[in-house]
Amino acid sequence: MTQARQPRVSEPAPRGASIRILGLDEEDLPAIEQIEHRAHLYPWSNRVFQDCIRSGYLLDGAFDGQNLRGFSVVMPILSEWHVLNLCVDPPLQRQGVGRSLLRFIIEQAHQSKIQSLWLEVRVSNAPARALYAAHGFAQVGLRKAYYPAKNGREDALVLTCEL
Ligand SMILES: CC(C)(COP(=O)(O)OP(=O)(O)OC[C@H]1O[C@@H](n2cnc3c(N)ncnc32)[C@H](O)[C@@H]1OP(=O)(O)O)[C@@H](O)C(=O)NCCC(=O)NCCS
Repeated sequence: MTQARQPRVSEPAPRGASIRILGLDEEDLPAIEQIEHRAHLYPWSNRVFQDCIRSGYLLDGAFDGQNLRGFSVVMPILSEWHVLNLCVDPPLQRQGVGRSLLRFIIEQAHQSKIQSLWLEVRVSNAPARALYAAHGFAQVGLRKAYYPAKNGREDALVLTCEL
């Protein structure tokens, strides 16, 4: 979804601020990158996000006014959608933004008659695992040493949600 919008920056928002979910495009890359770097020890590069946009993946952002608070990246493959990234700005975490983004993805997938959602998550990522479990995701696989980690590598759980 491309809209004429003003440039945005990501700033902390007051707790409970109302969130709108909008499609993202290249003008959002600076704000996406800021959040990604604040939220991850091993962030994606700007180039990866750019490639996702150019490849036609689904990028959506949770906005508080003009400010981006979190985003999702979904790669559609026929009747499956792969959630490649779901990220909320750390000062805004645990306020329902991640849940709103995930519910939006699920709702869009239903509307598009998608059969299943897939994703990988770090074994140690308890917040994300709890979020996905609460929305019907179940483990179907394990990728050994999938992610970089402080002390070597970390396994990924492969989760799926049948729609
Ligand atoms: C995972 C993430 C997206 C969750 O987003 P969020 O906005 O903080 O989460 P929400 O406030 O919407 O919480 C929804 C549910 O997620 C779970 N959850 C979120 N944070 C949690 C935490 N710190 N501990 C345990 N459960 C947590 C809970 O089930 C929560 O429901 P509840 O509040 O009713 O208990 C966010 O923590 C994040 O961006 N983390 C860094 C990036 C990341 O790891 N992304 C996932 C990659 S697979």
